[in-house]
Amino acid sequence: MAEPRTVTITRFDDARSAFRQRDFRQALYDEGDVVMADVLVNLHGDEHRNRRRLENRLFRRDTHEHYERSLFPPIVEDTIAPYRAAGYAELVAFSHHMMMNLAAFTAGVDRPLGTADEAFRLYSYMMRFIEGATLAHYTGDREAKRAEVAEALTQFDEEFLAPSIARRVALLGELAAGARNEDSLPRDVLTVLLRNQDNLDLPADVVLRETCFFLLAGAHTSATAFVRTLHNVFGMIERDPTQRARLRRDLGFLQQCVHETVRLQPSSPVAMRWALASTTLDDGTVVEPGDKIVIDLMRANRDVDVFGDDADDFRPDRAIPEMAPRWGLSFGTGMHACIGQDLAGGLDPRGSTPGPDHLYGLVATALNAMLAAGAVPDPDDPPLIDPESERGYWLRYPVRFDPGTSS
Ligand code: HEM
Repeated sequence: MAEPRTVTITRFDDARSAFRQRDFRQALYDEGDVVMADVLVNLHGDEHRNRRRLENRLFRRDTHEHYERSLFPPIVEDTIAPYRAAGYAELVAFSHHMMMNLAAFTAGVDRPLGTADEAFRLYSYMMRFIEGATLAHYTGDREAKRAEVAEALTQFDEEFLAPSIARRVALLGELAAGARNEDSLPRDVLTVLLRNQDNLDLPADVVLRETCFFLLAGAHTSATAFVRTLHNVFGMIERDPTQRARLRRDLGFLQQCVHETVRLQPSSPVAMRWALASTTLDDGTVVEPGDKIVIDLMRANRDVDVFGDDADDFRPDRAIPEMAPRWGLSFGTGMHACIGQDLAGGLDPRGSTPGPDHLYGLVATALNAMLAAGAVPDPDDPPLIDPESERGYWLRYPVRFDPGTSS
């Protein structure tokens, strides 16, 4: 057998086809086991299919509509209100708070007290889980960090998950007794898992990690896309101030800004897989079992054959060929295709004017509220990129709310 090696894929077509290979197993989160062991994105074959099939039932159009039209707008307003009153916000923390408020609903994490202190404690746990999931990129003492994350999981379990489970078990008991109907159950991942715990053979620690994974997967990616898009939008407005009014008028255009940002800066610059069987890639390369496949999303999403010679530029209203999504491969494709894609990014009207039923996604919805509140970059406190992050995360991004700009 040939030596295991790393094969890197950079062309769009090859990358898409690699995502769809059934004999390639997830490899990105091997270091992040403390949070990521046995969670959906790490499963393979039948185990993945069975869990995904159940969780898919939650991520349907009616749920997305309910989130975007009813649940989310007041959450965004409530999250912005104190910052707006103060005239100032730091977007990295702000966006994680806002998206966490939403992801907690999707995951099924209750906050019975509804206090700021309770929200802050959940936020601190979530930020720890994000560190756990991305341990592969951590440059400090990994064992110490892993232990910190494990401790946070135990505390989160006691403080948030156990009461959330108890409430749902009671509701499911009432359902079984005929005292309530299906429609009155919470629509979240935890309820789906508890209803199917026996047929999926899910031990309590897997329920814990799967719930944490949905909390961090939902919040972190959307929060990052939110800050990056706003940065690109600020740049566009600086070059051409008339764009601000256009963005306020045309939510579809703001949504395209989200898609273009996500294409240029995917939440993870690479996807990774282990080859389980000998496979010939589209470009003729033969990979052997044990080889690592790196799908370079930064490059595939800027493939000039698909996105044109100006593929590196931020041009939200670029023409895109029919075969490619506006966001490139940033939501993945194939068996692990992002379950929250429509929720976060909405649907792509593909050139036609969005109708009244159109879903713009939660990132565009939140950005719209920020622009309406008059957010502008803070001229006295410039944003800072995190020097320790390989992923180009912002460390801090201060904005001011300018009453003269709000609408
Ligand atoms: C801008 C926002 C988002 C981006 C860029 C994003 C990106 C991705 C990518 C690239 C994958 C595939 C990973 C792979 O193939 O290795 C993925 C999977 C996943 N995402 Fe997202 N995501 C976003 C929002 C969300 C939201 C809001 C949720 C939850 C509600 C979510 C939940 C998931 C889950 C559960 C998977 C695993 C699916 C599976 O393995 O079957 N994501 N996401």
